[in-house]
Amino acid sequence: MSDTATQSARRRTFAIISHPDAGKTTLTEKLLLFGGAIQMAGSVKGRKAARHATSDWMALEKERGISVTSSVMQFPYEGRIVNLLDTPGHADFGEDTYRVLTAVDSALMVIDVAKGVEERTIKLMEVCRLRATPIMTFINKLDREGKDPIELLDEVETVLGIQCAPVTWPIGMGQRLKGVVHLITGEVHLYEPGRNFTRQDSTIFPSLDAPGLAERIGDTMLADLRDELELVQGASHSFDAQAYLAGRQTPVFFGSGVNNFGVQPLLDFFVEHAPPPQPRATTTREVAPQEEPLSGFVFKIQANMDPQHRDRVAFLRICSGRFEAGMKAFHVRSGKEMKLANALTFMASDREIVTEAWPGDVIGLHNHGTISIGDSFSEGETLHFTGIPNFAPELFRRARLRDPLKLKQLQKGLAQLSEEGATQFFRPLMSNDLILGAVGTLQFDVVAYRLKDEYGVDAGFEQVQVQTARWVHCDDAKALEEFREKNAGNLALDAAGKLVYLAPTRVNLQLAQERAPKVRFAATREHA
Ligand code: G4P
Repeated sequence: MSDTATQSARRRTFAIISHPDAGKTTLTEKLLLFGGAIQMAGSVKGRKAARHATSDWMALEKERGISVTSSVMQFPYEGRIVNLLDTPGHADFGEDTYRVLTAVDSALMVIDVAKGVEERTIKLMEVCRLRATPIMTFINKLDREGKDPIELLDEVETVLGIQCAPVTWPIGMGQRLKGVVHLITGEVHLYEPGRNFTRQDSTIFPSLDAPGLAERIGDTMLADLRDELELVQGASHSFDAQAYLAGRQTPVFFGSGVNNFGVQPLLDFFVEHAPPPQPRATTTREVAPQEEPLSGFVFKIQANMDPQHRDRVAFLRICSGRFEAGMKAFHVRSGKEMKLANALTFMASDREIVTEAWPGDVIGLHNHGTISIGDSFSEGETLHFTGIPNFAPELFRRARLRDPLKLKQLQKGLAQLSEEGATQFFRPLMSNDLILGAVGTLQFDVVAYRLKDEYGVDAGFEQVQVQTARWVHCDDAKALEEFREKNAGNLALDAAGKLVYLAPTRVNLQLAQERAPKVRFAATREHA
């Protein structure tokens, strides 16, 4: 095998999806702990404290600083290289979360045993389903009373529409929690609060029949467990690697993140079965990870990490080939060669300068606004990776400037912040308004704060009569011209200069569509 094929096969690139408070942050921390990336649990915590204080803008700043290092966390485990991509934590489900999910090869879903399947989980699952992303499930907080495990799996199957294959099974719950049984290896892992930091540190019996086990969990419990397992094995599916890789089945684990419990079986199984980097679609062909030339796409931009320097970091997911520090790559959109110097890697908990990286890895490229979300890089071939969309925003506001002399800065600020992808910026053809679109209201507050902090612009946002936006396309130049003339009052350009129809009402949109049958109205704009 070539180096690229070998290195690519070792990679496991994934994201954790969950409803807020199910335990994503805690589990992230424990995975890093088991992966040896951090010595003591606790370092990811600060981020959460910052995240919860959304009204405290200094905390927001701090969070942004910290979230760069925790955007991608890489650690070696059992001969594999694990890349954990963080999904943004704020309450609004954003397109940035969606785009992170386009950059992974699999996902890990965390469910609170007491709450079961929650609203955000359903939404994230829909996103994963679009690309048939393989998903493993961790049922968390087993140290508390929760739903009956069999009912819970039933809930996952019916609500999320995915088959469940339990890999571990709980022995008791809450106060009665004794451990988990590994249904494939037969091992019994005992629950011992304050321990289980490593495999050596845990009490593991090789099977249910192992001497000494009955004394530890009690004869009655053991007998009940045997009965229950019979029921479970009859009623549920056994692990089927193919069904998992096709996104039809999810292996399920039980545990308690905060108590380090059940995490090791999950991580062991994950590195063994989760898919390595997969081939990626472009507008012209599929790119296989083992191809020698470097290729990749940008799925995230983080701007102004250091407000003094106006720098921004573009996160590039490598799809094929080998990245080497200082190499030149072809920036497909601009058609120019770009020297990829000072790329960041995300080993353990710190940023480091990367010397090489492989398919599945993410590197951070410093730039001054030349790189945008959705951009592709190659070694010369014109490749456009597909599937990294901008969604039509659902909320719109007009920017209102308190100091009219700052218009230039305002335009610049809005344009640059929209490059990060959390908000979108529109300039109507017929007015000087600056309209901002977002998926959640919090984003307007964040933009107002950052305009002031980073661009020195005091701006507010007011209601505007726009309900939805559609990118318009038309192959017939004459029909397009006619459409532009008739609808100039509702047309705008987005930050990339693409034509957008801003509809004041749904009815208006419908009428506009009926009147211009040759024009296509798209709810997403694919970056290309
Ligand atoms: P999130 O990132 O998905 O939002 O969840 P996070 O890990 O922050 O966990 C949410 C809350 O659930 C935290 O409590 C955390 O300590 C708790 N938690 C996580 N795993 C477990 C578990 O296995 N068992 C129990 N009982 N609780 C768990 P908090 O009160 O919000 O914060 P803290 O004061 O405990 O830090």
